[in-house]
Amino acid sequence: MLPHKLISLITLFFFFTCLLIPPSSSSSGVLSSITKDHETLLYTLSLYLNSPPQLTNLLLDLSASYSWIDCSNSFTHRSISCNSPLCSVIGSRTCAKCFHSPNHDDCSTSPCVLSPLNPVTHKSSTGKAIVESIALPVTDGRNPGQLRGFSEFFLSCSKKSLLKGLTKGVAGLAGLGRSRFSLTTQVSTSFSSTHTFALCLSGSPSAPGVAFFGSAGPYYFLPEIDLSKTLRYTPLIPNPVHSDYFINLTSIKVNGVTVQLNQNISAVDQQGFGGTKLSTITPYTTLQSNIYSAFTETFVNESAKLNLTVTNPVEPFKVCYNADEVLDTKVGPTVPTVDLVMDNDDVFWRIFGSNSMVRIVRNDVDVWCLGFLDGGIKTETSIIIGGHQMENNLLQFDLEQEKLGFSSSVLAYSTSCSNFNFTTRGNLS
Ligand SMILES: *[C@@H]1O[C@H](CO)[C@@H](O)[C@H](O)[C@H]1NC(C)=O
Ligand SMILES: *[C@@H]1O[C@H](CO)[C@@H](O)[C@H](O)[C@H]1NC(C)=O
Ligand SMILES: *[C@@H]1O[C@H](CO)[C@@H](O)[C@H](O)[C@H]1NC(C)=O
Ligand SMILES: *[C@@H]1O[C@H](CO)[C@@H](O)[C@H](O)[C@H]1NC(C)=O
Ligand SMILES: *[C@@H]1O[C@H](CO)[C@@H](O)[C@H](O)[C@H]1NC(C)=O
Repeated sequence: MLPHKLISLITLFFFFTCLLIPPSSSSSGVLSSITKDHETLLYTLSLYLNSPPQLTNLLLDLSASYSWIDCSNSFTHRSISCNSPLCSVIGSRTCAKCFHSPNHDDCSTSPCVLSPLNPVTHKSSTGKAIVESIALPVTDGRNPGQLRGFSEFFLSCSKKSLLKGLTKGVAGLAGLGRSRFSLTTQVSTSFSSTHTFALCLSGSPSAPGVAFFGSAGPYYFLPEIDLSKTLRYTPLIPNPVHSDYFINLTSIKVNGVTVQLNQNISAVDQQGFGGTKLSTITPYTTLQSNIYSAFTETFVNESAKLNLTVTNPVEPFKVCYNADEVLDTKVGPTVPTVDLVMDNDDVFWRIFGSNSMVRIVRNDVDVWCLGFLDGGIKTETSIIIGGHQMENNLLQFDLEQEKLGFSSSVLAYSTSCSNFNFTTRGNLS
């Protein structure tokens, strides 16, 4: 390795990138719609790829460090070689050979090959690193405006077979993880000077939610509610191994009663084990077995105080109540509240019935079930906060100050994540 040469190449690369894509002078960001698929319970993000821009659906993966696409859907891409600074930084294993060969010219002819991963099946493949054109509509926090594009979006392309197990109609995966090569980092550095993105996931099959990139707000939802004003903040915790977003969850309270846990749920060790993270690939919050048992026991005890009696469970859930025993409100069924307490007792993410419970209606069964799952004794991560618990919550990821802003249920503000006005405004550029 020649570290000096590498560093100067990287400097050169970023110098040219800056020349090609002057950062936008306005503070406005870009946006994308997010749709939930009710078969896989996964989320799809829409953006424009190729030139001329083509609307493309990608699986939203909050944890992946880079994006990938089935090669046949990317027809204007350029492959990149091992000697591109990008490839050295991301650490393509297949390039190690040319880096260590005495003849450095090998690196200009060897293609940079990555290992894109399907997070659902855990299968990975090999795929060329490519650059492709990307475009997204601008926003000032309201309706989408004109498309803004850049032609140096870095991702991987893969065999079509890697799509198996993902939502029908997706062409690949949008990686939003903590990485210099995630969609979020690339889009926010190219379009804006604000390294912040926000997600508002909708659970509605017909009305999409929204993602804002390169904007710290405002985020307007009908009727004219700026949800950026509702945020509270907690630090994002670095994980030495993973590109997932980990938070400093220190305790869980059910109706104000602290769940007794004999383990530290915020600690992440040097191998990346432990801690609490957010995942859009996990449909329901999944807890390590001991945490799950203590949590459900406390929940059942606290619901008994509200005169709720558990009934026969419906798979995959273990704690269910007859729907006719439960009162429905604008924040969902009246069950004990679940508070995810962060750094101190004053900073908590409150989970109401609409996010803690799942309604199951089939044959002669009509129940509300506690939508949390037992992840088993041996889990890499202690707590994975899943999609159902994130829906109708605004989540803002500030990558510069390394903090997460969370709103708790936006239903409490009489709006929802599906209330974004997607009608295009032509004059916004
Ligand atoms: C849990 O671990 C974190 C990080 O290692 C540490 O800062 C914190 O003090 C620990 N909390 C408790 C209650 O031990
Ligand atoms: C739940 O209630 C039962 C019966 O009153 C009690 O034995 C148990 O300790 C309680 N568990 C928790 C976690 O509060
Ligand atoms: C639960 O039921 C008991 C007996 O019917 C009643 O006295 C109590 O007020 C009820 N509690 C709640 C929270 O509804
Ligand atoms: C997480 O919270 C604990 C308890 O308040 C605190 O001691 C620790 O420093 C926090 N960790 C980070 C990374 O902020
Ligand atoms: C959505 O935005 C369009 C364009 O600004 C506007 O004409 C329309 O009234 C808005 N819809 C609602 C329900 O406010």
